[in-house]
Amino acid sequence: MDDHKQDNATMAERDEGACQQQNWAMANDLKVERDDKSAKVAQPVAENLKMKDGFPVMPGKIPLLGHVHKISQDALGELRQAEVACGPMFWTYFGTKLPVLQIMDEDGLAILQNKYTDNSYLREQMPVITGEAMNAFDGERHRNARRASTAAFTPKGLTRAQVGQFVVETIEQRLKRWTSESKLAIFPETKDVALEVVFRIMGIETQELEQWRHQYEEFFLGMIPLKINLPGFPAWRCRKARGWLEQRVAQIIATARANNDRDSLVGAMIFGRDDNGNGMSEVELVHNILGLGFAGSETTAAVMAWSALMLSQHLDIWRQLCQQVACLNSVPHTHEELIRQVPLAEAIFRETMRLYPPAPFEMRKVHTEFEMMGHKIPAGVMVGVSLLHVSRNPERYPDPDSWRPERWLGIDRALNQVETCQFGGGPHACLGRHVAALEITLFIAMLARELGPKGVSPRLVGKMPPPAYLPFLRPSNKAFLDLTGR
Ligand code: HEM
Repeated sequence: MDDHKQDNATMAERDEGACQQQNWAMANDLKVERDDKSAKVAQPVAENLKMKDGFPVMPGKIPLLGHVHKISQDALGELRQAEVACGPMFWTYFGTKLPVLQIMDEDGLAILQNKYTDNSYLREQMPVITGEAMNAFDGERHRNARRASTAAFTPKGLTRAQVGQFVVETIEQRLKRWTSESKLAIFPETKDVALEVVFRIMGIETQELEQWRHQYEEFFLGMIPLKINLPGFPAWRCRKARGWLEQRVAQIIATARANNDRDSLVGAMIFGRDDNGNGMSEVELVHNILGLGFAGSETTAAVMAWSALMLSQHLDIWRQLCQQVACLNSVPHTHEELIRQVPLAEAIFRETMRLYPPAPFEMRKVHTEFEMMGHKIPAGVMVGVSLLHVSRNPERYPDPDSWRPERWLGIDRALNQVETCQFGGGPHACLGRHVAALEITLFIAMLARELGPKGVSPRLVGKMPPPAYLPFLRPSNKAFLDLTGR
């Protein structure tokens, strides 16, 4: 146990180190640091491939859907097959109109540095979802919003805003009910938890939670790529919900300002300043705060649900976890303390994210032609890097498809940008990664603390259904756990 503590005491710093490394990469070059240092050259290997702009098109494209049917059913298998035929760079079509040059190699992470690429596609393709939130902008505009928000999202900012306490209270409440249900749909449940945590961070009153939950569900409909804006259609419902949410977020901001609240997360964003002493405009504040519910709920919920499902399949790890949490006097409210006291919870979180990165396909639009893996990538195209495949690179992770949390124990160096790629990279790297790490490790530790002393382990009910890949990688709503021990 003590060894574990020692080994993992620096994990929070390791994560920070990865971000610094990203900045280093941004300043110097597009190269991702790799073990073999060889520059990879992408060459198609099969004959009769359809080509576009000098790159092969993934086989199996059909009218209207492109490759969506393949990717949504089995992205891991289908893209691996395509890689065998096409090499590590090929076109995938998300519908007929959106060709994305997919890069399967970790060198592809360089696109996230936004040296020759940008995030403008988000404004073009999902304007109702992103609004004026920071992820849809680059350069000065993005930097200002990001810097003004940074303090709120550091581990210190989260402690000041009592985020750990909100998470513990929310999960504690759920666990009571979960342990009496013999068929628990785990992902819908963790989704509820994650959304509630974001709502509490935003300072929403308990009696209003249901109303907010409903409006966010409506808002999420905007992810359905059906643009018809007629009453009752998803795009229309998304817009309507957005209107409601914007109004309510503006009220929250007004109240925080009136109370001179600088400690809560929302308060810290309101009073946060960039390097020139400028805060965010009112519109930016509303849109960025509203965006937290979108960025921080399904992603975090998916990793929580996968973690519980994986534990149900690895009872040896479950038992070790229960032993570690049995030593806790109380549940720590910071990630740093959790890493020290329950290093296995952190390792489970990292390993689960590696196998199941919630945002599996990171994309960018190319604004200036550049070279990658021996090819010129022209301006104007969309490029993507598959975090799903980068995270399962057998050269980096032996036996890559196996869930082995012990991979992450005993590492006493900063994690590199490949190891933390599930949070993206470069200037847009996930702002909420410390929130996610705290929430997920707390969930894992609290699950074992609740069930362990009763001798109960999570049990999968029926078979594990295949995952859903689009728009996020998540367990099926029909993956059920029994937490009753009966
Ligand atoms: C396991 C959970 C999470 C995962 C896997 C995740 C992943 C990501 C990824 C891949 C990006 C895009 C990075 C890029 O484009 O390079 C991102 C951006 C972002 N995430 Fe997260 N996220 C998680 C949780 C959260 C949470 C809990 C919050 C807030 C409460 C959050 C807030 C954000 C924001 C605001 C951005 C946009 C940052 C920017 O554009 O500068 N995320 N996240």
